Amino acid sequence: MKIIVVGTGFVGLPHAAILAEAGHEVYAYDIDPKKIAAYESGDRAQIEYFVNEPGLYEAIQETHGRYLHFTSSISQVIDETDVFFMCINTPPNRDGSTDLSYYLKAANDVAELLANRPTKNRVVLVNKSTVPIGTARLLERVLAEHGVENFGIASNPEFLAQGNAIDGSRRPDRVVVGADTPEDFQILRRVYSQFVNHVRIKYVETTPETAEAIKYMGNTLLLTYISFWNGVGARVAESLPNVRMEDLKIGVTADGRISTWGSYVSNGAGGSCFGKDIQSLIYQLNQAGCSTDLLQAVYNINEYQKTYLIDRAVHEGHFNFNQKTVALLGLAFKKRTNDMRDSAALKAVESLLSKGVKEIRTYDPLAMQAAQEYWFNPEKNHLFERITYHETVQDALAGSDAVFISTDWEEFRGLSRTIEKAVKPPYLVIDGRRMIPDYMTLVDKGYDFLAVGGPLLRKETAVAPSPNGLSPQAIPQKA
Ligand SMILES: NC(=O)c1ccc[n+]([C@@H]2O[C@H](COP(=O)([O-])OP(=O)(O)OC[C@H]3O[C@@H](n4cnc5c(N)ncnc54)[C@H](O)[C@@H]3O)[C@@H](O)[C@H]2O)c1
Repeated sequence: MKIIVVGTGFVGLPHAAILAEAGHEVYAYDIDPKKIAAYESGDRAQIEYFVNEPGLYEAIQETHGRYLHFTSSISQVIDETDVFFMCINTPPNRDGSTDLSYYLKAANDVAELLANRPTKNRVVLVNKSTVPIGTARLLERVLAEHGVENFGIASNPEFLAQGNAIDGSRRPDRVVVGADTPEDFQILRRVYSQFVNHVRIKYVETTPETAEAIKYMGNTLLLTYISFWNGVGARVAESLPNVRMEDLKIGVTADGRISTWGSYVSNGAGGSCFGKDIQSLIYQLNQAGCSTDLLQAVYNINEYQKTYLIDRAVHEGHFNFNQKTVALLGLAFKKRTNDMRDSAALKAVESLLSKGVKEIRTYDPLAMQAAQEYWFNPEKNHLFERITYHETVQDALAGSDAVFISTDWEEFRGLSRTIEKAVKPPYLVIDGRRMIPDYMTLVDKGYDFLAVGGPLLRKETAVAPSPNGLSPQAIPQKA
């Protein structure tokens, strides 16, 4: 199949590479010439600056020039294209609704070109972007208004998880295609021939609206589950006596009906999707006159979670952040990506600055360049000058009074020895990801330890660890 992928960001670029791997003739197009130049260069650092995903560079290298082509203009290659995948950003508006302006600009540009194409083969325009339910119909209207002939529209939402985009796209758990005609379903079956009739992959054919709704329902349910563990599981283990978070998790999820995925507790789920998608669904349901109390609570819990550990440090630990130096470990919204969009670290920085910290010493294995560009913007906030950037965990810890672990990078696991070497008590360790299983060694040596899903631990309040050494108990401090 001849395919044009419109938009080559975190979704479009991996998608184009995987389609090319399957032997399709793929043109990856973006309105941003810097991205196209970087991808075209074949240079790993330049490509990964925009999208850093394990296996992506190799997938591009394998196919670039043979099956995969990059272009900043599609007018020359549009003829005889079978399928367009729209992978355009759809950010939230202030009221939670979806900003479709980027998407509609791209749709109009493509429609204009398609209206004047020389050959009139069947062409299907497919939404991969997450778009409000009914947007495929909007796309249909845009194409019709431009006088495009012989076209179909489809919805084929993307379910990839960043950090696992390539593996996830090679082996998805499902492919959802919403279309109107047998002909269009057939064209999409040819695109995804390796997944149709697969023994494990669910290939779902449905209406465009159902496909759009599946995406929103899926993301909202995932965030609901995360927020249940954060808003209930963590609270139980933090506030009620003698409850061990790890044991709680294992015991509850032993029930075959309960998912183990998402049963971790954390300083909130970030990223460009969960927050915006739940807000968009709330907006769409409100517009339809439905109550959205549950969804609003889920959203609020997740936002609250991003800074509540800093507040606990103040209220439970009596830690005064004013004029203190804090090391912030992890800036990307999750491990294995350099994407900081809606990262919990952004909220932590805002909170720390508002509490008067002297310096925030940051470190992330992949996101340092993105971080410097994000915060090195004098227009945003002059307080950002208090953020400093470091090349190692040790550098970030040097001279700090407290550390906040915000992202679940593997290298932050078992940081206790590094902390012991770098900084001496009195010192506060805030573990937003429960990354330090042997935290009792720190507590025994006089460090204060505050993790999501556990009470504040301080030497005089701590008691012996459990037999497995991983879930020590503490008597919560008396007020
Ligand atoms: N990031 C994820 O993990 C993920 C997962 C599933 C679904 N989605 C959805 O996929 C969509 C894209 O997300 P993303 O993270 O890839 O966004 P992104 O911002 O990384 O990429 C969007 C790309 O579209 C390009 N673009 C914008 N306007 C254009 C135009 N008129 N013509 C051509 N290109 C244009 C931008 O330059 C950018 O490269 C969103 O709707 C998002 O909700 C994202």
